[in-house]
Amino acid sequence: MRAAELVAGSVRENPSAAIALPTGETPKGMYAELGALHRAGLDFSGVTIFNLDEYVGLEASSPLSYAYFMARELYRGINVPESSRRIFDSTAADPEEECRRYDRAVEEAGGIDLAVVGIGRNGHIAFNEPADALHVGSHVQALDRQTLEVNFEVGLKQLAEAGRPPIPRSKFPTHAMTMGFGPIMTADRVLVLVTGSAKAEPMRRMLDGTVTTRFPASVLQLHRNCTVLADERAAAGSR
Ligand code: GLP
Repeated sequence: MRAAELVAGSVRENPSAAIALPTGETPKGMYAELGALHRAGLDFSGVTIFNLDEYVGLEASSPLSYAYFMARELYRGINVPESSRRIFDSTAADPEEECRRYDRAVEEAGGIDLAVVGIGRNGHIAFNEPADALHVGSHVQALDRQTLEVNFEVGLKQLAEAGRPPIPRSKFPTHAMTMGFGPIMTADRVLVLVTGSAKAEPMRRMLDGTVTTRFPASVLQLHRNCTVLADERAAAGSR
């Protein structure tokens, strides 16, 4: 799979790379493939991973959390030391302060070498939702209605897979902490992963639409080293 090979290439080139990674259905195959590459000898011991985002207010052990997702989908398969796995603390008493702490950690790492991102149906990148302006730094983001609908359904599946009871919609997190556009736009390289027919129109708008903060993925048109990897269904209709 090309996405995993591209990440592996970054790790081989710079064994202490700082890599930003997404959650979601889209990157799961890449994570499985990175596990296979690790079993074949690829060493992640010097790498630092920054998750792009996390919900506000979940218990640390919640199967809805992105920390849980990363542990299950990626970290059990590769050797990134625990101290080098960065993610917003969903349980933080002061999420805004947690965002400042996160930005300091990104800064201390010297910025992001490779940012791997997915895209939301509304064009969000990480949890940077459509808005009049984009944030440079990490921030607390109220989730869009459409994002809440999609992510609630995904959340129910995750709970079922973990053998936990479903929760009502009213108990699903309405806010998230997300990396801003700063570390993504200044990353040496951005890799955008797009799969499935529901992403065909978002993909077209990302590549060919007006550059607007009302469709955050379009802003990636301005990145100097951005690679888009899409499956056939997502690529239908794009150049
Ligand atoms: C989520 C995440 C994003 C992710 C996007 C797409 O809300 N916050 O980081 O890229 O939605 O997810 P999926 O790959 O499941 O379509």
